[in-house]
Amino acid sequence: MLHVTSLTKRFGNKSAVDNATFKVAKPAMIGIIGRSGAGKSTLLRMLNRLSDATEGSITFEGAEITTLKGAARREWQSRCAMIFQQFNLVPRMDVVSNVLHGTLNSRSTLSTMFNLYPTSDIHRAIEILDRLGIAGEAPKRAQALSGGQQQRVAIARALMQDPQIILADEPIASLDPMNAQIVMDALRRIHEEDGRMVIANLHTLDTARRYCDRVIGMRDGRIVFDGTPEQLTTGAARDIYGADASFSEESTSTSIETLDRGTKRALREAEAAV
Ligand SMILES: Nc1ncnc2c1ncn2[C@@H]1O[C@H](COP(=O)(O)OP(=O)(O)O)[C@@H](O)[C@H]1O
Ligand SMILES: [Mg+2]
Repeated sequence: MLHVTSLTKRFGNKSAVDNATFKVAKPAMIGIIGRSGAGKSTLLRMLNRLSDATEGSITFEGAEITTLKGAARREWQSRCAMIFQQFNLVPRMDVVSNVLHGTLNSRSTLSTMFNLYPTSDIHRAIEILDRLGIAGEAPKRAQALSGGQQQRVAIARALMQDPQIILADEPIASLDPMNAQIVMDALRRIHEEDGRMVIANLHTLDTARRYCDRVIGMRDGRIVFDGTPEQLTTGAARDIYGADASFSEESTSTSIETLDRGTKRALREAEAAV
């Protein structure tokens, strides 16, 4: 389905992504992990064609992606929607309009200029928001929502394009534990129920282990691990994050696990109190 072959991106003489090769045979939920600067964002940006590859090839269902131009490139970008750590919503615009922005590629300049959306699109936007549990926020300005709600609006905007692939660059890095869990649960559900491929850069091991079918580990631009969560042992993680770093599972652990531990502790304490 998706073939990435010897993909390289150089900035000057530095390779941000260095000869990356992997294949995805069927829609999966894939986590990309690695230290800051490992090349995770650059890889996603090349997949989405926000950034051009220096060398190498990306094919999707047999078609070469790296050379697409103009309308064909934009069409590809709507087939693989991207969501970001900072949500990238229009803060002062209401939630529904933010979601309807996801149809921009397929609309005329004139209807865009006058904010004219077909009623069917508005209904669909509300349905998607409802599916994500935030239909009630539809008329509010995006800036009035919590971070977790805003990220769900961004996911709704992505779904509006009906993409085959969702690329998520550190989607939970700015969120508190509970919202991080809600957003990851939403991405997992979208993968399972709709059969969409999800590729998410994640800054922590435990989230990748918990939500993904497959984990790709990057270090200095190279793919140094590609396997199942079960294969991602502490030793493998040490290779990805670097043996020199005072590596510990704890230090790369997200707040989701912390939340679980906290919740478990609270439950124990509650039980003890009875
Ligand atoms: N536009 C750019 N110009 C120059 N260097 C860049 C640019 N984007 C990323 N890099 C460099 O490429 C490397 C990989 O960056 P990035 O893909 O953002 O890593 P990650 O997302 O894993 O933190 C880093 O060394 C970064 O400084
Ligand atoms: Mg990054």
